[in-house]
Amino acid sequence: MSANDIKSNVIKLCTRMNIATERVCDGVMTLNLPIILYIVDTKPNLTASTICGVVFESESCPLIDDEFDWTVNIDSGPPKLIDADDSEEIINIIQITDIHYDPNYEPYGNANCDEPTCCRRGQNDTNTNNKVAGYWGDYNYCDSPWHAVVDVLEQIRATHQNISYVYFTGDIVDHGVWETSFKGNIESINKTYSQIYETFRNIPVYPIMGNHEAHPVNLFAPKTVTSNELNTQWLYNLMADLWINFGWLPESTRHTILQGGYYTLSPKKGFRIIALNSNVCYSANCNDNSTTINNVAWNGGSATAFSNLNPNYKLYIADSKNYAVKDIETWMYNLTLANENAAQRPLWYKSYSFKEEYDIPDLSYDSLHNWLSRLARDDDLLSRYYRNFFKRAEASLKKECDTKCMRAYMCRIITSLGDHRTHCS
Ligand SMILES: *[C@@H]1O[C@H](CO)[C@@H](O)[C@H](O)[C@H]1NC(C)=O
Ligand SMILES: *[C@@H]1O[C@H](CO)[C@@H](O)[C@H](O)[C@H]1NC(C)=O
Ligand SMILES: *[C@@H]1O[C@H](CO)[C@@H](O)[C@H](O)[C@H]1NC(C)=O
Ligand SMILES: *[C@@H]1O[C@H](CO)[C@@H](O)[C@H](O)[C@H]1NC(C)=O
Ligand SMILES: *[C@@H]1O[C@H](CO)[C@@H](O)[C@H](O)[C@H]1NC(C)=O
Ligand SMILES: *[C@@H]1O[C@H](CO)[C@@H](O)[C@H](O)[C@H]1NC(C)=O
Repeated sequence: MSANDIKSNVIKLCTRMNIATERVCDGVMTLNLPIILYIVDTKPNLTASTICGVVFESESCPLIDDEFDWTVNIDSGPPKLIDADDSEEIINIIQITDIHYDPNYEPYGNANCDEPTCCRRGQNDTNTNNKVAGYWGDYNYCDSPWHAVVDVLEQIRATHQNISYVYFTGDIVDHGVWETSFKGNIESINKTYSQIYETFRNIPVYPIMGNHEAHPVNLFAPKTVTSNELNTQWLYNLMADLWINFGWLPESTRHTILQGGYYTLSPKKGFRIIALNSNVCYSANCNDNSTTINNVAWNGGSATAFSNLNPNYKLYIADSKNYAVKDIETWMYNLTLANENAAQRPLWYKSYSFKEEYDIPDLSYDSLHNWLSRLARDDDLLSRYYRNFFKRAEASLKKECDTKCMRAYMCRIITSLGDHRTHCS
């Protein structure tokens, strides 16, 4: 078949099977078909099971293909030991993530459209049950209006006078994945980073990109792809320029950012930041079958309410000497309340401290291991975790979720390998 025939047939199938509206099916195919055809054409040996293994990372189709058996050479010398003593002093680190700024957000527009992202201009005619987009955001499949982006940054600056660093872990671009463009993504990225810079000025910001910064979404091409239409160089160039020009990163990070959007640096003696572009290997992890915790990755919250969330960010309280995380605070606002009082800025508050909320003495692996065991046995604790997962948003509290349903959220903490559930049943 010609590329056009493939495209029109897939759009027909996608529309007839009610996977999405014709507009969305068309947009997704128009953006992604050239990439799929490029992969098929340049990899004559590609098999269905390799595609399944790479795309779904599922135990149902394990990835068995020599091409993905990589060897990573690491320095075989003994590790350099640093003084790991703790101290009484702390530093504060803010993590902001998942802003998902939607330039098309229309307050009082359509919050219940039949497209993957709503509350956007031009979606009026598909409104079926009169759900109107909130002024500050919406629990439905809707992203953030610009004034909500400005508000969260301003709230952090005004409230936390004592922050040493800001970690910004990306996802600036909206969920309108069927109609992104190079120009639109660049505008949203540039506008948001400029606002972050204007807000925090002399506080160091350590950024990394989210999967939504790419166009189309998730497209992080390997270095071997040189075509301007398909490679990711435009994004790496843009990020290197922004991150270095704002003075957040030294010139020495440029070459790895241009390579693949990653870098490392040491802001202080004994403290190293390793910023990985994990988009190129979306969810796989080297989990062995151990029953003890061997690594903890703290996950940022989400500044967008998409979906069923209250907008939020996190504050990490770390030891100033060994940089161990001592506690984590979740800050948020009640979006229902904010939208009821649209003319006022949202009322941000500290929702909880991890240590206090779950009554644990510290965030050591031992304490977290005990906490997980309690979570598996104690339904009240589990239900508290579940409510916090959705930031106690009205829309999610109204949904039915029994113990089995809540346990699924617990299992998501324990492993990060695709749908690997062996540690949790
Ligand atoms: C495809 O497989 C054949 C046989 O295993 C091999 O000789 C050839 O190099 C492979 N081609 C590519 C592009 O990987
Ligand atoms: C529909 O669109 C019009 C014009 O854009 C706007 O004034 C109106 O508030 C919208 N109403 C809803 C329910 O989306
Ligand atoms: C700010 O942090 C320093 C330690 O870095 C601490 O001594 C001071 O009390 C903090 N001030 C406030 C207002 O939190
Ligand atoms: C980013 O925006 C500024 C204006 O705010 C403009 O001067 C600059 O050229 C833009 N950069 C890019 C890469 O679009
Ligand atoms: C765990 O891994 C070890 C070594 O790879 C293996 O011998 C053992 O059978 C595994 N145990 C389970 C429960 O999978
Ligand atoms: C959020 O605000 C609504 C409306 O005022 C209120 O009914 C609800 O209880 C609040 N939720 C929380 C978690 O405070």
